[in-house]
Amino acid sequence: MNKIINKIMFLIALGVVGVTMVGCGGKKEKTLVMGCSAEYPPFEFRKDGKLVGFEIDLAKMICEKLGYELEIKDMKFDGLIAALNSKRVDFVMSGMTVTEDRVKRVDFSQMYYVPKFAIVYKIGELIDDVQMMKGKKIGTQIGTTMEIFLKAKAKELEGLIIKGMTRNPELIQEVKVGRLDGVMIEESQAKEFVKANSELGYSVFEDNAGEGYAIAFEKGSDLKAKFDEVIDELKKKGDLEKLLKKWEL
Ligand code: ARG
Repeated sequence: MNKIINKIMFLIALGVVGVTMVGCGGKKEKTLVMGCSAEYPPFEFRKDGKLVGFEIDLAKMICEKLGYELEIKDMKFDGLIAALNSKRVDFVMSGMTVTEDRVKRVDFSQMYYVPKFAIVYKIGELIDDVQMMKGKKIGTQIGTTMEIFLKAKAKELEGLIIKGMTRNPELIQEVKVGRLDGVMIEESQAKEFVKANSELGYSVFEDNAGEGYAIAFEKGSDLKAKFDEVIDELKKKGDLEKLLKKWEL
């Protein structure tokens, strides 16, 4: 009889171990994986090989408050929503603007930054108005609101050639060597790239083709409410403002 009870106890113990292992399988239970395209200074970029930026700091702050470890995956911008919906990442923070189309595919947190479109050009070859893109070769990052904007304007802007690429530093390089007349990007990033390249300048457009930047979650994720609560707190305490200042935003 005792033997049978022992055996049952052993099996139960095994079962428990099994469940715990599933909980730990792959990633630690208390770790959240963030997806971003880390070539968008000052929001997320590499400095001396390390991932830094406003959104890296913000993600760290939020995860710390909620008691999660943070792991960051650097990937292509146009693959971020797919990574989210296939559970390869738990949330996306990548200067991602809330748009009508994205709202159908993901849930967004509250917004924390409102961008403006800009164009980076070579000094001496100024483009400071949308109409000036007529007949020009303009690059932009694939899958972004700038790409949507350019495609929508293509008819009206006669002779416009749009070149999509995956990473902004490569687009900037194309302008420097004269293979592109300009890169459509956003104001705060244009400012950073121009700071680092004295032969370039930028102009700001009023349009934005969406709303503000927000954090994206899989539809129905319970993380959204938790993150929103922390963002509320950071806004109230002035911590968000401080962080924006730190990154000159
Ligand atoms: N705000 C734009 C968008 O949502 C561009 C974001 C690009 N982000 C990046 N990390 N490269 O489409």
